[in-house]
Amino acid sequence: MNNAEIKIRLIEESDIPEIARVYADSFNRAETGEHWAEDQALSFVQYWYNTQPDLFFVAVHGHKIIGGAMAEVKQWWNGVGLDHAQLFVDPEFFLNGVGKALLTKLIKEGVDKYSIITFSGMASSHNAFPVSWYKKIAFAPMANWVQLGGKAKEILSKLENGKNQ
Ligand SMILES: CC(C)(COP(=O)(O)OP(=O)(O)OC[C@H]1O[C@@H](n2cnc3c(N)ncnc32)[C@H](O)[C@@H]1OP(=O)(O)O)[C@@H](O)C(=O)NCCC(=O)NCCS
Repeated sequence: MNNAEIKIRLIEESDIPEIARVYADSFNRAETGEHWAEDQALSFVQYWYNTQPDLFFVAVHGHKIIGGAMAEVKQWWNGVGLDHAQLFVDPEFFLNGVGKALLTKLIKEGVDKYSIITFSGMASSHNAFPVSWYKKIAFAPMANWVQLGGKAKEILSKLENGKNQ
């Protein structure tokens, strides 16, 4: 594929169904342990479009959407950052520089428009890639912080019954 044929532009509302399909295909292929149904991906993409449309970019090849990248702006103790970044490419177009082009555009926009200091997101540790790539380009695990999560009802049950267990 000729990389000159790939264009990166801001998302438009009419892109939402197609970008949701690309999101689901991409993460379903990535063996993260998540399985995205199309309606869940649609709600997810709609949420992002509603909250931060100026930082939601899509990659286009001809008329086909082949990837996306988005993040949200947050004020932190050390300045403004882009957080919860999402990067995904249609599996048919992996390894063509699309991910790199999208990530570059997103971070540049963050720097130019919001003067961001930091940029962060989650990546699956199931396979060596993509953490291996992120480490090469100056990402690192967040020192002193661990992402924790669980099932809401199990946590509630522990909170409510913990003293009896
Ligand atoms: C991560 C992802 C966006 C990369 O997209 P891509 O367009 O294939 O990546 P690029 O072609 O721009 O390559 C970027 C770098 O990763 C490397 N790379 C890409 N796929 C790789 C693989 N499967 N194994 C090892 N390295 C790989 C490339 O060689 C390149 O490195 P370089 O710049 O040092 O040469 C894509 O694999 C994807 O959508 N994965 C599923 C979703 C996901 O896990 N997203 C990341 C967490 S939000």
